[in-house]
Amino acid sequence: MYFILLLLSLGHGVLLYDGIDMPSLGFGTWNVPPSQAENSVFTALEAGYRHFDCAAKYQNEKQVGKALSRYRKSYGLSREDLWITSKFPTNLEHPEEVMPQLEETLKDLQVEYLDLYLIHWPFVRTEDGPKEYNPERIARIWEQFEIAQDRGYTRYIGVSNFTPKKLQKLIQSARHQVAVNQVELHPFLSQRRLRTFCERHKIAITAYSPLGSPGRPNSIDGEEKLLEHQLVTGIAEEHSCSPAQVLIQWSLKNGLSCIPKSINPKRIAQNFLSTSCELSAHNIFKLNRLNKNHRYLTGEHYVVEGKTVDHIWDLMGWDDDDEKEL
Ligand code: A2P
Repeated sequence: MYFILLLLSLGHGVLLYDGIDMPSLGFGTWNVPPSQAENSVFTALEAGYRHFDCAAKYQNEKQVGKALSRYRKSYGLSREDLWITSKFPTNLEHPEEVMPQLEETLKDLQVEYLDLYLIHWPFVRTEDGPKEYNPERIARIWEQFEIAQDRGYTRYIGVSNFTPKKLQKLIQSARHQVAVNQVELHPFLSQRRLRTFCERHKIAITAYSPLGSPGRPNSIDGEEKLLEHQLVTGIAEEHSCSPAQVLIQWSLKNGLSCIPKSINPKRIAQNFLSTSCELSAHNIFKLNRLNKNHRYLTGEHYVVEGKTVDHIWDLMGWDDDDEKEL
């Protein structure tokens, strides 16, 4: 049984720039309440997950760390069998805060190194509110990330919620390769332009909210739910899978890593078994056509006075010359 789970978890990977595989299906820990995080992560490990997506901002890394440590001790799992991602939080503004914060995350997660450390957002939001995007600050933070990688604190470094424009800016001064960009991505938001850019620059993509984030705290009454879209439910019926499995498999078949979250043991196991839900090429094509550039997570939290969410995603003043430069 253990061997089969290992094959399921390690057999499907997303290629990073250096030819190493990142396990494509990960367990998302955003919105997992601290009181349920240890059990949920332990259940996910039992279900076969080996890739865990964490962040200091989620305020549950201590509990995640307890589950990882308990499982490893119980089943003799070595550190190399796991893929652990964490993120540098947006409430910290200064580059000199990177190393202490990373050390705290390592301590909380009870590991000696991360597999991947990401800049959580290209923005800062302190007690005084959100601050204007500052590429210089990102470049200085990135330098600290590079030092952390050189020191072996993390195997890879990357970003989250970066647009092609912001990635381009970062790449200009970066000494080390951006390994991954983690963004919201699902059939309603297929991020074509970003994917083309990332492919060209050998940046792998992790899709967050692959199920359309139905349980997020600020979900809007009456919003269109991806999991309930009739094409998704129809394909699920046709393939004898669940709608969630269809969406996860859509991500994987598109060459993405994805990190569905659940605190429900049955759904945790069901999501992990998505790889057995084979979708026909025709159905993948039909799902691809659902795109309507719809974000469930708009980033409004980071909008500064006088600006809009379109500024967050660089949708203002985008013209063909920008496109050519990328
Ligand atoms: P729960 O934690 O109660 O299972 P996303 O990863 O896109 O943010 O979606 C996470 C949300 O989707 C959570 O609210 C989670 O609820 C729910 N969810 C996770 N797996 C499934 C599933 N297999 N079927 C239906 N809902 C699911």
